[in-house]
Amino acid sequence: MHKTFYVTTPIYYVNDKPHIGHAYTTLAADVIARFKRLDGYDVKFITGTDEHGQKVEKSARQAGLSPQEFTDKVSVFFQTLNTLMNFSADDFIRTTETRHKEFVQRMWNKLEKNGDIYLGSYKGWYSIRDEAFYPEKELVDGKAPTGNPVEWVEEESYFFRLSKWQESLLKFYDDNPDFIAPLARKNEVIQFVKSGLYDLSISRTSFKWGIAVPNNPQHIIYVWLDALCNYLSVLGEETQYWPCDLHIVGKDILRFHAVYWPAFLMSAGYPCPKKLFAHGWWTNEGQKISKSLGNVIDPIHLIEKYGVDYVRFYLMREIPFGNDGNYAHDAFIARINAELVNNIGNLVQRTVSFAYKNCNGVVPTAVLNSEDKKLIDIAYETIKSLRQHIEAQAIQEFIAEIVKLAQEANIYIDHQAPWNLKKTDEQRMNAVIYTLLEVIKVLAIYLQPLIPDSALKILELFGIKKIGFEKITNSLEFGSTLQKPEIIFSRLEVK
Ligand code: MSP
Repeated sequence: MHKTFYVTTPIYYVNDKPHIGHAYTTLAADVIARFKRLDGYDVKFITGTDEHGQKVEKSARQAGLSPQEFTDKVSVFFQTLNTLMNFSADDFIRTTETRHKEFVQRMWNKLEKNGDIYLGSYKGWYSIRDEAFYPEKELVDGKAPTGNPVEWVEEESYFFRLSKWQESLLKFYDDNPDFIAPLARKNEVIQFVKSGLYDLSISRTSFKWGIAVPNNPQHIIYVWLDALCNYLSVLGEETQYWPCDLHIVGKDILRFHAVYWPAFLMSAGYPCPKKLFAHGWWTNEGQKISKSLGNVIDPIHLIEKYGVDYVRFYLMREIPFGNDGNYAHDAFIARINAELVNNIGNLVQRTVSFAYKNCNGVVPTAVLNSEDKKLIDIAYETIKSLRQHIEAQAIQEFIAEIVKLAQEANIYIDHQAPWNLKKTDEQRMNAVIYTLLEVIKVLAIYLQPLIPDSALKILELFGIKKIGFEKITNSLEFGSTLQKPEIIFSRLEVK
């Protein structure tokens, strides 16, 4: 039996088309999921759409469609993005699916059975954009702390006894110090819980678009209780994947995942997820990304312009995962040209072209010296630090490590100068070329989770298909055929 690994993205609101922030969250999960699969894990990687609630209902009305028609339409945009971004999700959950709705109602019954639900009335502020309740003390200049408008709500409502779970939550964070990352975010959550938890309103009566409360269908289940359940509802019978290994979320929705979700799970008798990682937010050329500013970055537009692998590389490489970051056109071009084109691309290009021309189109037979072996060993050993980086969701460092390996290979090729050896020492030339080809093969294996299409193109030069990490040290065979090299990373022109 393989060890399981379950990774999720938030499910996305379908009030609007996907933008770069959505692509970013799923991309990070995809890189990690792909890495784990290549590392021998039985992976479950899930994403989907969050389709109920007032916000979506309102957007549907504005579009002149029924909520169901509207969500059917917008959900497809997210599914299309997944295909275009080359995301390898194992399932796509929509909260309007029966499998999900039934699960949420069963969950409700469990919370109720445990004495954690009571009927009362809610009087307070609600932000439709955040789909969140805010106590008066959290408002800033009459708005939600997110800057979004709030409205006054007064209605009958079911409550979840969140306050009851305060101590259990604090104990849980204490017992599981790695539950929330990065560290600064964890401290925020603990502060928030320590400051005192209110019972949470978990039903609404003023609109209809959602899952009905069992036995009282006047009430619609709060969209966050509904949505969080997706992580379990999607598994169906495949409960072996629970508890989840990693929920990747944006920093804006950490509280729902770090406080409400474990409280619901504890109440219902489920084990809590092992880890939450909250990433930062992108700005566009220094500005907050917003529809009203008209500066939303459309990931599909970027893919059309630069190709999917350049977009994947840039987004994951540019900023440390966990920090906020800024999208800038110039930085995009500079990054791709420096690292993919000049460093990795150039290494592949000059080595394979040289081998193709001077070694009869095959991997040359070679006798390696200690310098050659040292470089190959460094390449093989790199998997250890890559593993550590992925374990820590340090995706930027993961890429930096691969880039560094390519740099070392470039230094080696310049130092060994096979183009000179060609005239003086053909045997050494063969050893140098063999070493470089082996390192390029290993580099391509490592690049598979990040830029799968390009990595496979490099591997194809050696007649290799998708290949797991356990085969890294299966060295290239002497005399095996090389394919004619074509340019894999073409230079981006600065306008
Ligand atoms: N539907 C909820 C999640 C429910 S999960 C049980 C939701 N959806 S969302 O569509 O608004 O946002 C989904 C994700 O996109 C969040 O993780 C959020 O952080 C991320 N991003 C939205 N804008 C972003 C940026 N500008 N930059 C980076 N990520 C951002 O919240």
